Amino acid sequence: MKRRLIRFIEERADIGPLRNWIRQKTVPQHKYTVWYYFGGLALFLVVVQIVTGILLAFYYSPTPSSANESVRFIMEKVNYGWLIRSIHFWNANFLIAVVLVHMFSTYFTKAYRKPREAMWIIGALTLALILAFAFTGYLLPWTTLSYFATKIGVNTPRVLPIIGGYLSRVLMGGSDVGAATLHRMFTLHTVVLPLLTLTLIILHVFLGQVFGSSVPISQSSYDRHTRFFPDHLLKDAAVWTVGLAVLLTFATVFPANLGSKVNPLQPAPAGTKPMWYFLFMYQSLRIYSRAVAMGSITLGALVWLAIPILDRKSAKGEKSTLFTLFGIAVLVYLIAMTVFGDISMKIH
Ligand code: HEM
Repeated sequence: MKRRLIRFIEERADIGPLRNWIRQKTVPQHKYTVWYYFGGLALFLVVVQIVTGILLAFYYSPTPSSANESVRFIMEKVNYGWLIRSIHFWNANFLIAVVLVHMFSTYFTKAYRKPREAMWIIGALTLALILAFAFTGYLLPWTTLSYFATKIGVNTPRVLPIIGGYLSRVLMGGSDVGAATLHRMFTLHTVVLPLLTLTLIILHVFLGQVFGSSVPISQSSYDRHTRFFPDHLLKDAAVWTVGLAVLLTFATVFPANLGSKVNPLQPAPAGTKPMWYFLFMYQSLRIYSRAVAMGSITLGALVWLAIPILDRKSAKGEKSTLFTLFGIAVLVYLIAMTVFGDISMKIH
């Protein structure tokens, strides 16, 4: 059967180079190989997010008078609608967590060094888009919490000089969060961001195939490889299965809830709190003046993007302790700000 299928294709297209590539592709084996699974897991979770998102879009209606009702309809009337929505909700959280692990593991193994600089830059831009997905999706259920949290979010860019006010108005589609904002968030979430993200992910994974997996500088003397097809791919599939099992467990044991529909005229409820992945930003804005915090975060993001260009030692295959320490400092700052943000929101 397999041979007949291959012959059928070969009589119509020259797949020789593809078959050679499949046969020759290998993955380096060393003590950090385990981190390679997170890139593949992120890819799998992206697919789950697309599939569940498309299913939700069949029923969702992006207007203030129908958005909350349509999500309630999905939860209560559509077959397995509650499960699809819960998977979409939990998977958004898992995807961000897995991409963060993937990013820091490639950082500490210095996988961004020559020739993979573009992979790092494209990856970092993809993370920004994934956070934008989370931000734009948050408003869609049109609940009290999602409305007022988005209001804080879309007003935050105002502190940026020159473009701040403009950016904020463009996001809102006016001077306050309303029907136009909901429509813009929906369009960004379901059309603009998917197109941009898919383009970047395809490029990222394509470059990954061109360069193959990197070997950390400290492991360069280990020269063991396993075949990608089928050995490594089967292990990837096992990781995806575990990921799916964890996701289904969370989605069924802790189904996503739906808050009450917002009345935009009511005052913002006390303790409106952003999701965990925005807490570090929120806490920084509370500690420092808004302009200083936004300026530092923007500058920090640009430095992070330029890491492969700044780390000259790694590019030459030398140990770069300074960049390892910098990575640890960034990680500690992010975790500390997230934890402090969470604690201080509970106290207030
Ligand atoms: C949804 C987002 C992402 C997906 C689906 C994704 C997927 C992948 C895949 C499948 C690989 C090859 C396997 C591996 O080495 O793990 C890879 C490698 C890589 N990724 Fe990502 N990635 C994403 C985000 C990021 C981010 C945010 C960064 C860093 C800012 C990044 C940097 C890299 C680097 C440097 C490599 C090369 C690793 C090596 O060769 O050792 N990726 N990515």
